[in-house]
Amino acid sequence: MCTCNKKNEYIPYPAKIESVKKESFDTKTFRVRFTDKNLAESFQYKQGQFMEVSILGVGEAPISITSSPSRKGFLEFNIRATGKVTDAIHALKKGDALYLRGPYGNSFPLEELKGKNLYFIAGGIGLAPLRSLINMVMDNRDDFKHVKILYGAKTPADMCFADELEVWKKIPDTEVWLTVDKPCDAWGCSIGVVTELWKETDVHPENAVAIVCGPAIMIKFVTLALKKSGFAGKDIIMTLERYMKCGIGKCGHCNIAGKFVCTDGPVFSYEQVKAFPEKEHVI
Ligand SMILES: Cc1cc2nc3c(=O)[nH]c(=O)nc-3n(C[C@H](O)[C@H](O)[C@H](O)COP(=O)(O)OP(=O)(O)OC[C@H]3O[C@@H](n4cnc5c(N)ncnc54)[C@H](O)[C@@H]3O)c2cc1C
Ligand code: FES
Repeated sequence: MCTCNKKNEYIPYPAKIESVKKESFDTKTFRVRFTDKNLAESFQYKQGQFMEVSILGVGEAPISITSSPSRKGFLEFNIRATGKVTDAIHALKKGDALYLRGPYGNSFPLEELKGKNLYFIAGGIGLAPLRSLINMVMDNRDDFKHVKILYGAKTPADMCFADELEVWKKIPDTEVWLTVDKPCDAWGCSIGVVTELWKETDVHPENAVAIVCGPAIMIKFVTLALKKSGFAGKDIIMTLERYMKCGIGKCGHCNIAGKFVCTDGPVFSYEQVKAFPEKEHVI
């Protein structure tokens, strides 16, 4: 029997689902609040971190916190139904219980982004982790220069946060550029992969940082385009996904060349990623 007072790091805290919003054809955003009132009020996290989200008896999955730390009292997770745990979470409704442990991982370097032009470049559900930082920036708008959000998805039905894209568009000094691989009849924006947007709008490296998230292949081509536009490796920031178990640097599942994505990441600069051995095929 353990006689120390330390809490077992694997034990999650109970939370209640406050609302469920369908975002795209296969993703939903869950707004949750810790059941313990003190924890709900005092809980702190940073933009870019993730939590292990679980249903008792089913399992747990690492999920990025998509809400912004600037909006307090609740947490939001945008989840794609893709297997055992995420399908079970999708079956939950308002008032049901979810269990959370975390927050885990590093975060987007907010202080370093202040005073910079920001390019947010996302593919599909990759907008979820960026949304946390985007809303942090929007809530402290004067601390940052021009913001461009370039967002691509397979079809209009795959786009997440449609309402919020409209809100961001109307914020001064903020542009939103959208593209899809396969449009529907009503589609009025660009067609093609997200790098096609380079033809529609300028992407300048001066005093700028690009923050990228999406499937590995998308990150790879976006990084190439950013490099071609003159961005230095340190000014390209990305958030990576790896198979995870513990989320706390113990099991080794997320190891890339001696780095643990769960504790050293998930946020890395391109400079860090390009130092990984080629055989790791990170992007
Ligand atoms: C740091 C981090 C942040 C994440 N943030 C989000 C998020 O915000 N929203 C979201 O929907 N998902 C996110 N994911 C992915 C999510 O964790 C997996 O989709 C989930 O663990 C799948 O669990 P499952 O039991 O539902 O599926 P399983 O039944 O385990 O698997 C179903 C399918 O998903 C694949 N899969 C399982 N785990 C992963 C993984 N880690 N990465 C890629 N594919 C996987 C399997 O190969 C299989 O094809 C994140 C992953 C990481 C590592
Ligand atoms: S998930 Fe266990 S070490 Fe990273």
